[in-house]
Order: sequence, then structure tokens, then C-alpha cells
Amino acid sequence: MSASRPTILVFDSGVGGLTVLDPIRAARPDAFYVYVGDTAFFPYGRMPEEHLIARVVAVIETMATRFTPDLIVIACHTASTLVLPALRERLAIPIIGTVPAIKPAAEQSKSRMISVLATEGTVKRDYTNALIRDFAGDCAVTLVSARDLASLAETVLHGDAVSDEAIRAEIAPAFVTDGARRTDTIVLACTHYPLLLPALERVAPWPVTWIDPAPAIARRVVQLIGDAPAGAIGVNDGLAILTGAEDWPKTLISAFNERGLSPGAI
Ligand code: DGL
Repeated sequence: MSASRPTILVFDSGVGGLTVLDPIRAARPDAFYVYVGDTAFFPYGRMPEEHLIARVVAVIETMATRFTPDLIVIACHTASTLVLPALRERLAIPIIGTVPAIKPAAEQSKSRMISVLATEGTVKRDYTNALIRDFAGDCAVTLVSARDLASLAETVLHGDAVSDEAIRAEIAPAFVTDGARRTDTIVLACTHYPLLLPALERVAPWPVTWIDPAPAIARRVVQLIGDAPAGAIGVNDGLAILTGAEDWPKTLISAFNERGLSPGAI
């Protein structure tokens, strides 16, 4: 590792990993960032498990060879809940995954009714169900697979309009009542969803605490590679690589530029 300037690879199926990149950059503005979005295969939510493992391993191995990162962040719940063992078996680089923040949700909920909003893949995973069993045994947990919410977030970052109605329909099943009790905490178990937070708050039938795992991921990054050196400043020379080789609409380029990233070659 270059002690002064680590290279950090942040990976997602699309733009969702930007919500994880933000607090990591705040903690380590001095690092060199490579952001990889596997847009050629977006969305991951409905991909068969064996395909997803093979795909993520292939992309990460290629990018790890090319950029020799000091640390890899899999900023995608759908991938992390499945492929971390296979990745760790193949790569000697430290890898941080992003898994549903069920433990902090259960710690905070007063009504003991929490919902987990995620892709179909994440909702089905043994990993997710084990987290519920281990950390939320005394809560009523509603698992909600939001079929199109990640795609709606992609649409917004591409600069296109999304109706509140479309978002409301995706999140409605996460709001549950049981007599006088109701859901008070919702886990955003897909990194795309915090991109929609203003809309989520606007359309929610009642106020809830939304749990975003990103700050905890950034703390883990600092545990592994240390704090930024005193007086460190951002260099903004990061690369954003999208495997889909799509047109980069202006809004999307701005979203990356605001985070110190410029489009890089696949
Ligand atoms: N951002 C991803 C996650 O955290 C998944 C979106 C998708 O590809 O379906 O699960």
C-alpha cells in the first residue's frame, strides 16, 4: 500500500455505490478512487445467484489487476450478501461488503416494527434472513422486495423524471400497522435507495427513521486503512468506469464530477 495515497475501488451494479463513496471520500479525501458500475448487467436484483457470483468475481478480478487497489468496497447489498466468500477466496486484498443494516435498525426501533427495503435478490438471501434471526429476534420484520426502486434511482441520476406515485407504490408495503403500533424504522438495504431519500420522505405515509449503511462502511474503511493524514485535501482525480459503455448524459457526468470522478475507459 502506498501509505500516503491509498487506491480504493468502489463497486456497484450501477450508480448506487455513490451513496457509499460519499462518506468514504469525506473520511479519506486524499485517496485515489476508482468507481466501477456494472451497468452492462444492471440490475443485479433478479440475476440468478450463480451468474451473479461469476460476473462479480470476473469484474473485480479484472479491475483489481488493472488498478491494484489497497481496498475494495462492494457497495452493493445484492452482491455482498452472496459473493463475498468467493471474492475473499480469490483476492488477497481487503474487501468490505455492504449488508442490510438490520442490527442498528433493531437497536433503534421503539415500536419493534421494522421493514427492510431491498432488491428481490437481497430479500431472498440466507444472509439477510440470518441477520434478522440474529439481531432482530424480538422485532416484527417486514421484508419488502422493491422491484423497480433501484432502476428509478438510476433514472433520476440520468436526469430523467420519476413520479412520486411510482416511488410510493414501491415503498407502500414497508409501512405496516398492528393495532396501535406501526413501522418506525426502515432499512435502506440497497445502495441506490438513499439517492431517492428526499422523495422517500415526501411520499412516506408517516415519518420513519431510514437507515443508510454508508456511514458505517466509511468507519470500517478508516479502521482498515487509517485516517487521512493531517491537512489532507481532495485531489479529484478519480475514475468512474461503467461497463455498459452507455452515453453519459450531462446529469450523470455531473453526479460523478461532484464526487471527484471523471469517466474512464472500460
Ligand atoms: N445497489 C444495489 C444494492 O445495493 C443493487 C441494485 C440492483 O442492481 O438491483 O443492492
